[in-house]
Amino acid sequence: MNVFRWPLAGLLIMLSVSTQAADPAAVYSKGGAKPAAMACATCHGAEGEGMAAAGFPRLAGLSAVYMQRQLADFASGERANPIMQSIAAALSLEEAHAVSTMLANKPQPDVERIGRTAAAQGIGETLALRGAWERNIPECVSCHGPSGVGVGDSFPPLAGQSAQYLSSQLIAWQQGTRRNDPNDLMGHVARGLTEDEIKAVSAYFAGLTEAGAGQ
Ligand code: HEC
Ligand code: HEC
Repeated sequence: MNVFRWPLAGLLIMLSVSTQAADPAAVYSKGGAKPAAMACATCHGAEGEGMAAAGFPRLAGLSAVYMQRQLADFASGERANPIMQSIAAALSLEEAHAVSTMLANKPQPDVERIGRTAAAQGIGETLALRGAWERNIPECVSCHGPSGVGVGDSFPPLAGQSAQYLSSQLIAWQQGTRRNDPNDLMGHVARGLTEDEIKAVSAYFAGLTEAGAGQ
């Protein structure tokens, strides 16, 4: 068939190619169709558990909507990261959707739920459970849920992530390299924290799970 004489037929062929369902397991373990969309498993672990020592975040059990938005923000540079930018830019929308949905269905680590009424000791736990209201910093659990297990599509889990990863994100907000959050909610919180507070609160949430404290 001559696609130039039959423009509609040509268009239909292109559409059927571009909407072909991506195989999420293949994208995750082997990479996307474009070579720059490197295999996620290399850095995020065989089961999406992350690599604590390297600061590669856990993806298993995160909201699919949250992850797709992060991928779009990496691609656009709103969340600046040299590694993830080229990977996210090379993923097709179908691949990003498929792999995020698959990862969201994996289990999160089991954590005892510690809320804002629990006793708080030390810098990290006090910030997590009480905040620093004299500086307009709400307690982390008020948005991220008890023990920072995450709430819905907007508030990602802190429990299950490593101290390295958590503190790198707080520093990224302070430095303005991550500025993709709605209404600058996290930017406001992070800019109010001292270096010692970042270390302490990151260690607190990482220490709630074996995965976060691991390696
Ligand atoms: C070479 C290592 C590497 C590979 C391969 C990789 N990532 Fe990442 N990923 C990272 C790093 C490092 C970060 C943290 C970036 C930052 O500090 O902002 C990250 C962050 C993310 C985040 C944000 C998580 C959060 O909690 O906000 C998502 C989502 C993500 N990656 C998805 C993927 C997907 C999907 C793939 C495969 C197509 C992939 N990554 C491949 C290193 C990698
Ligand atoms: C007012 C609500 C709010 C409060 C309070 C809050 N956060 Fe957040 N936090 C958010 C939102 C929203 C995001 C997701 C930003 C995005 O969409 O990229 C986030 C994301 C994060 C991330 C990135 C997680 C990831 O997977 O990349 C870290 C780390 C974090 N918050 C730590 C903290 C800590 C520590 C505290 C307490 C000192 C805290 N947050 C208090 C709203 C809040």
